[in-house]
Amino acid sequence: MAIQTQGPAGPSLVKGARAARTTIALKMMMAASGIIFILFVLLHMYGNLRAFWGMDAFNSYAEGLREFGEPELPHAGMLWIIRGVLILALVVHVASAAILASRAAKARPVKYQVKKNLGSSLSSRTMRWGGVTLLVFIIWHLLQFTIVKVNIGAGGQDDSITKNPYQLLVHSFNADSHAWMTVIYLLAMLALAMHLHHGTFSSLQTLGWTNSATSRRRARAAGWVVAIVIAGGFSLVPLFTLFGVIK
Ligand code: HEM
Repeated sequence: MAIQTQGPAGPSLVKGARAARTTIALKMMMAASGIIFILFVLLHMYGNLRAFWGMDAFNSYAEGLREFGEPELPHAGMLWIIRGVLILALVVHVASAAILASRAAKARPVKYQVKKNLGSSLSSRTMRWGGVTLLVFIIWHLLQFTIVKVNIGAGGQDDSITKNPYQLLVHSFNADSHAWMTVIYLLAMLALAMHLHHGTFSSLQTLGWTNSATSRRRARAAGWVVAIVIAGGFSLVPLFTLFGVIK
C-alpha cells in the first residue's frame, strides 16, 4: 500500500509507518518462534514424564524419537530436523529481541528520572535477563545430557550410565548425587515459568487478542496456565528422583 509523502510531515510519516510495520513483523517473529519452543517443551516434558513409568518407557521414547520416519528418513533424521528448526527459532527469537530492545532504547535515549514500575509484572520486567538465564541453562543442560553427557552422579564417564538416558537422568538428580543439581533445575524452571508467563501474554497481545478487559484477563490466565503446566511438569522428574520415587 502506498503511503502519502507530500507535505512537511510526509517523509517522517513514511519512516514512522515503516518502522511500526517492521516492529510488528519482529514481534510476530518472536511470537512464532516462541510457539515453536512451547510445542517443543510440551513434547519434551511428555517424554520426561515417562520416567515415572520406568526405564523402558523412558528409553523407548528417546529411541522412538531417533527411529521416527525410518526407512524414508535416515536414523535420527527426525531428531536432526527438530534440532534444525529449534536452532532457527532460537536465532530468530534472540535476533528479534535484540533489534526490538535497541529500537526501544533509541526511542528513549534519556532514561526516566524516577523509575517506577507502574503496574508492570515482575515477569515482564525480567524478560531480557530471564531469557539470558535460560540460554545459559540450555547450554549447561545440553552439555550434561546430550553433548558431553557429564556424569555427575557417578563422578566419571561410566558408559552404563552415560549411554543409557534413563540412568543418566536418575544419576543426575538422585539424593546420592548432588542436591544442587535439582536446585539449579528448579531455579531454571522458575525462570522458564516467568518467561512463559509474560511471553504468552505478549504474543497474544501481538495477535490483537488483548483489546478488551475480558480478553486481557483471559490472556493473563493463559500465561499462568502455560507457565504452571510446563514449568511444574518439568519440575516433577528432578523432584521425584531426589525423593527416591524415580530410581
Ligand atoms: C527439569 C527439566 C528438564 C529435564 C529433566 C530434562 C532432561 C533431558 C534429557 C534427559 C535429555 C536427553 C534426552 C535423550 O538423550 O534423548 C534432554 C535433552 C534436551 N533438552 Fe531437556 N530437560 C529439561 C528441561 C529442558 C528445557 C526447559 C529445555 C528447553 C527450553 C530443554 C531442552 C532440551 C534439548 C534442546 C535437548 C536435546 C535434544 C536433542 O537434540 O537430542 N530441556 N533433556
